[in-house]
Amino acid sequence: MWPRIANRRCARLPLGSDLSIEGNVMPQNRSDFDGLPSAGPARPEDVIEDLGDGLLLRRARSEDIEANAAFQSVVQADPPDFEPFEHIAHWVRQLMDGSHPICRARDFLLVHDTRSDQVVSSLGLLSHTLAYDGIPVPTGMPELVGTHPDYRHRRLIARQFAEVHRWSEERGQLLQIIDGIPWYYRQFGYEMAAQNMGGLYQGRSLLPGEPVKGLGVRAAIEADAPFITRCFDHGMKRYRLTCRRDEAFWRFELSGRHGFSTQTRFLKIVETDSGEPRAVFNHVPILLDHGWTRTPMFEAAPGVAWPEVVDAALFFLREVGAELASQSKQEHAGAALVLGTEHPALEVLRGRGGRPRRPYAWYLRVADPVGFLKHVAPALEARLVGSPYQGHDGELALSFFRSGVRLHFEKGQLREIAEWRPSTEEVGDVSLPDLSFLNLLFGHRSLVEIADAFPDCQITRRQALVETLFPKQPSFLMPTS
Ligand SMILES: CC(C)(COP(=O)(O)OP(=O)(O)OC[C@H]1O[C@@H](n2cnc3c(N)ncnc32)[C@H](O)[C@@H]1OP(=O)(O)O)[C@@H](O)C(=O)NCCC(=O)NCCS
Repeated sequence: MWPRIANRRCARLPLGSDLSIEGNVMPQNRSDFDGLPSAGPARPEDVIEDLGDGLLLRRARSEDIEANAAFQSVVQADPPDFEPFEHIAHWVRQLMDGSHPICRARDFLLVHDTRSDQVVSSLGLLSHTLAYDGIPVPTGMPELVGTHPDYRHRRLIARQFAEVHRWSEERGQLLQIIDGIPWYYRQFGYEMAAQNMGGLYQGRSLLPGEPVKGLGVRAAIEADAPFITRCFDHGMKRYRLTCRRDEAFWRFELSGRHGFSTQTRFLKIVETDSGEPRAVFNHVPILLDHGWTRTPMFEAAPGVAWPEVVDAALFFLREVGAELASQSKQEHAGAALVLGTEHPALEVLRGRGGRPRRPYAWYLRVADPVGFLKHVAPALEARLVGSPYQGHDGELALSFFRSGVRLHFEKGQLREIAEWRPSTEEVGDVSLPDLSFLNLLFGHRSLVEIADAFPDCQITRRQALVETLFPKQPSFLMPTS
């Protein structure tokens, strides 16, 4: 039922996997690439660049769907018990066939080898709206990045990134995000600056053996979309950077996806015996990571107490885990609540024997820090309210060594945010090496944690103001992919 391609490096990391680079470079079997469908015709108007040796960099069209779906299903296939390959093909088809809310065939780039008529490298750019303290941020997400093993190390991905970064800028996107393999995307200007997964692994023996009196769990239906939206929006207030998901998205999630793709999640409602919905959670439709059900989203309606809805969900996951285990002839290890480091469900379960797992991270890129800071200025001003810096007047100079940003406050309002170049004479208030500023901006690390990790992070003046403007706070990203 769940065919697998064995012996593959992971395209996107399963939680708890070995994070070493070694785990990501296992050679693929080249014969898997033989006999893939041909790419559609290379139309001159789609060609972006002739890369030589018969390779054309071009935009994809719907005629390329089958070629790209087949190529991606092989190049992205993951090790046993993660994302089975035909589910990647379903996902690619939907991203390209016009039925996906935020992606079309034209959002993909291909490197087309005109000698073999094969797709040999590809990636797409999905457009999302994220929110920074609730402020909408247009965001691009490069996705499904892959190159045929015989064509690697020729900078084919680097060339395609330059192109999608240009598209992203044209679309007015202030941020780019990637859920990707270790280190790789740093070379394209990304910093790992928001937590990604992590959470609590509650072994099967720790899951409740009895249902919670008065509460049950049922599959969500389209009519639940307003309730799910309300719970999700309420829960997202605890995070710095989040993904906006409106009712239309939840309807797509509930009934718009074709078949099982790697993105399929089953949504469940916790409700009272009288049918009053209390909470929503989801789970991946297969066991992952050696026998675990995986729940990457769990939110309760405003005002609902968590302990009972958590037990109701865990009892359900115990039942569904046993069913999935018998279908796939493995043991159900337990329920992985992949909800990050800070979540009410994890608080409720503290001391109940589960194993915490450290999060991985999202790659974030901000090409124009001044533009981004101007966009989120109301969030920065709001952080001063009620702090000792309420009504603050003055300057703050953040140095990134070869560039910098100067913020000018008047009565607690940001009157000016401008580029500024540090010098030997004027080093600024705080100096942040490389892209470490993104860790501060997105609340991933505190200023002191950055200074501990990078001795060349210098705090010269105004530490308290910087800490007030950029406190540590987790993010929760669940983009519409
Ligand atoms: C990762 C992958 C996309 C790289 O493709 P590529 O066309 O070789 O990329 P580029 O030539 O543009 O890479 C440039 C640099 O990235 C680095 N790099 C390449 N593969 C890497 C990997 N797996 N991990 C970390 N760094 C890597 C190298 O330093 C390379 O430069 P070099 O050739 O001078 O050493 C390709 O190996 C692949 O398809 N892997 C399987 C699918 C996958 O893991 N996709 C990423 C999903 S998030």
